[in-house]
Amino acid sequence: MATNDKVIIFDTTLRDAEQTPGASLTVPDKMEIAKQLARLQVDVIEAGFPISSNEDYEAVHRIAHEIEGPAICGLARVVLKDIDRAAEALAGAPKPRIHTFVGTSQIQLDGQLRKNRAEVLELAVKAVAHAKSAVDDVEFSPMDATRTDLDYLCEIVHATIEAGATTINIPDTVGFTVPEQFAELIVHLKQNVSNIEQAVISIHCHDDLGMAVSNTLSALRAGARQVECTLNGLGERAGNASLEEVVMALRTRSDYYGLDTDVVAKEIVSTSRLVSRMMGIAVAPNKAIVGANAFAHSSGIHQDGVLKARNTFEIMEPTDVGWEATSIVLTARSGRHALRHRLEELGYELSKDELEKAYERFIELADKKKEVFDEDLMAIVGDEIRVEGNEKYKLEYLHTISGSGTVPSATVRLHIEGAESVQQSAWGDGPVDATYEAINLAAGQRPTVEEYIIQAITGGSQAMGEVTVRVNDGELKTTGRGVSTDIIEASARAYVDALNRLYLRRGRQVRSDQVQSQTI
Ligand code: KIV
Ligand code: ZN
Repeated sequence: MATNDKVIIFDTTLRDAEQTPGASLTVPDKMEIAKQLARLQVDVIEAGFPISSNEDYEAVHRIAHEIEGPAICGLARVVLKDIDRAAEALAGAPKPRIHTFVGTSQIQLDGQLRKNRAEVLELAVKAVAHAKSAVDDVEFSPMDATRTDLDYLCEIVHATIEAGATTINIPDTVGFTVPEQFAELIVHLKQNVSNIEQAVISIHCHDDLGMAVSNTLSALRAGARQVECTLNGLGERAGNASLEEVVMALRTRSDYYGLDTDVVAKEIVSTSRLVSRMMGIAVAPNKAIVGANAFAHSSGIHQDGVLKARNTFEIMEPTDVGWEATSIVLTARSGRHALRHRLEELGYELSKDELEKAYERFIELADKKKEVFDEDLMAIVGDEIRVEGNEKYKLEYLHTISGSGTVPSATVRLHIEGAESVQQSAWGDGPVDATYEAINLAAGQRPTVEEYIIQAITGGSQAMGEVTVRVNDGELKTTGRGVSTDIIEASARAYVDALNRLYLRRGRQVRSDQVQSQTI
């Protein structure tokens, strides 16, 4: 592939997608996803916004130092202390990038920043120069670029390149643009910014009008060479351009685009599942590439065609993006060594303690289920390491009674960090309701359950049930997840996970409120 044919994939799942309502990732979650993004071979991982919380700082720091392959990026406003915090998180890392941004449209200037164009330009130039004194790889984003005055956009792009920006990202922050207009904007920058060749043009599209991927592809045709995108299209509000759709559109229609990426497409489905599981956000069945029905043919005519020649109704091979028949890998006779080996093949490197916990859960499962599938293993590992080291509440014991003619009741014992274990019993409309009430009494918390989803991880009546529960404590929302062959236990684990996440997020909230209330 000639160098100008390569599109840089900048994955912002850990930063923009983490802003999805209800999605919240712990540092171990982010590490797990970052490892998988490295296997997917994205070029850049935006790992967080270090000034916004200690967790984001730690995630950027650990990912930048422990994940090999991609460049690791930390986000910063055009504020010197933001840039210093990002630089500190990235210091000594092999491939650090600082991404600094500021709103440039008149709407942002008047409505939020209350600054004039000259003041914002000066801040942007100073921020880029400051970032450049810490790292070579500096990206600048004129936020809300698609609603920014064109002459001013050219001026700020020129000035920030002069100050040292090596990537200029053009965000369609509110998903306002349309494909033809966005392409014209990229061409306009190429023709009117005299030093534009010294930087890579990037695009960052939001999906408010459902055009994030179309706008992205259109800008690539016009000369952009970096795409900012997320797995499953997650992100602020309606989300960002979906990585899997952009990558597969370029690959499937290379005849038209003449562009490609270094992404290992076979890793797409497992990465999508990992992100969905970690964020507690299910993928819609009809989602392109990664939805359960993306390659399912139901009409008789289509089935007949595909059986005769796949290309009659299929433009991609499902196996190319990682849809494979689930293979049976382990049984109760498999030892720790076999488990470790299979987990390593699936990309999990567990510490001794983590492996021990995973092994206990695996044996429990294998005894009940006989055949343990890759999906089961991934679910167990995800469940065990989700809030590692940060668990305020731990479920120690659960007993429920239910049946027709019985009042459903539950007894739980919770271990509460820094306190004694607490045991409580309660009754409810059903065993899950009773369990949640008993957990509320034990934890002294009572968030509202906004959504409860249960699904089977693999087929058959012995499949593990995966419960995702979204809770709201009046101020914060979060999602918890739990897996077990016993669906009441999976429900209890999911709820305790959600309480742990609320606890963590309350700590983070203080810091990010401070950042958000101080614009620049
Ligand atoms: O949508 C946006 O403009 C952003 C910037 C921080 C690039 O996410
Ligand atoms: Zn964004």
